Amino acid sequence: MITITICIGSSCYLKNSKDIISILERLITLHNVGDKVTLMGSFCMGHCTEGVCVKVGEERFSLSPANTEAFFNEHVLGGLQA
Ligand code: FES
Repeated sequence: MITITICIGSSCYLKNSKDIISILERLITLHNVGDKVTLMGSFCMGHCTEGVCVKVGEERFSLSPANTEAFFNEHVLGGLQA
């Protein structure tokens, strides 16, 4: 089971954290991993100057809509296979 935590604090919200959530939801459905991947929202994680703040476990990523799919393939699907 993998939990992806997405910052929905105001700064990340303005950087389209909502779009990243929709992209992640679409990828989860597409790859049929809804029973293994959970999405959670979080308040500000204190890294507002970067991209949208996303965490998988304790590892932190900085996402934009453009790199979300690559992140998903590597760290989510990759993590499930590990
Ligand atoms: S609002 Fe997302 S890290 Fe601060």
